[in-house]
Amino acid sequence: MIELTNVSRRFGEVTAVDRISLTVETGETCVLVGSSGCGKSTTLRMINRLLPHSAGDIRVDGQDIREVDLQQLRLNMGYAIQGTGLFPHWTVARNIALVPQLQGWERARIEARVTELLDMLGLSPAEYADKYPAQLSGGQAQRVGVARALAADPNILLMDEPFGALDAITRENLQNEMLRIQRRLRKTTVFVTHDIDEALRLADRIAVMDQGRILQHDTPDAILRQPASAFVESLVGSQDRGLKLAALQSVAEVMQRHPQPRQAVPEKVSVGAQDSLRQALSVMLWQQLSELPVVDDQGLELGVLTRERLWRETA
Ligand SMILES: Nc1ncnc2c1ncn2[C@@H]1O[C@H](COP(=O)(O)OP(=O)(O)O)[C@@H](O)[C@H]1O
Ligand SMILES: [Mg+2]
Repeated sequence: MIELTNVSRRFGEVTAVDRISLTVETGETCVLVGSSGCGKSTTLRMINRLLPHSAGDIRVDGQDIREVDLQQLRLNMGYAIQGTGLFPHWTVARNIALVPQLQGWERARIEARVTELLDMLGLSPAEYADKYPAQLSGGQAQRVGVARALAADPNILLMDEPFGALDAITRENLQNEMLRIQRRLRKTTVFVTHDIDEALRLADRIAVMDQGRILQHDTPDAILRQPASAFVESLVGSQDRGLKLAALQSVAEVMQRHPQPRQAVPEKVSVGAQDSLRQALSVMLWQQLSELPVVDDQGLELGVLTRERLWRETA
């Protein structure tokens, strides 16, 4: 779907992006991760032609982006950035409606779409549609930014540190929303972050960047287990690797299921099937248990997770 071949971008003497090659498959979430100034935003902006590339080849759906009508190219790509870029004098509804309006959708269709998107992002339409950006919290404004990027149902989503300025809890909530939306819509996504944990959480594949180059392009699991260089290893934090691997897998994937659900068990000494192995490990440590009941949403015991099983799965 998106294919970069030997792409470079120079700003005068500075080579911001240096001969990178990267393929993002249809429906995949690719996360560009690396420290500030390594060329992530420049890479993203070349894909929607906010910046022309100096050398190399960028193709979307097999077509050279320089040969695609700019308007068409952009309409096919939702773009969300840190700080949202919302128009302050426009209501939430009007901000979200921006691209559909440009595309000449009918008013009723736009209104229905705005309502649908506000619902999808967990903002009550009755309450939020007529608010102005200044009346929103940081997390709410970012939600509106994501809704706007999705408004005209583009095939591609480009997101540049959209949750970068949020506190840890709001950020985790929005990451969860993002995962839920991605499972449902399967947009081809390029997501930029400097936060390796966010990358591990959201990515199908991660591209680790440093000084304008891609050092490794791999699944989160492979980035953790087989870092290609000392730089990548230090980014994932070699001491932290076990916990990060455990965070990638859900309890449901490795638990031993009972033939039938059993009675409810207290929340304190159990773990949810949808929780991560990292959470399970934390409960085991805290409660000093070597075996943990796994419960469903109602608290009914579905099975157990043993320490042996957990050890084996994260080995
Ligand atoms: N418009 C610009 N003019 C000059 N230099 C730029 C411009 N945009 C980015 N750069 C430089 O290119 C490099 C990569 O920047 P950027 O892609 O924004 O990095 P990141 O998003 O990873 O923090 C940096 O050295 C930055 O200073
Ligand atoms: Mg940037």
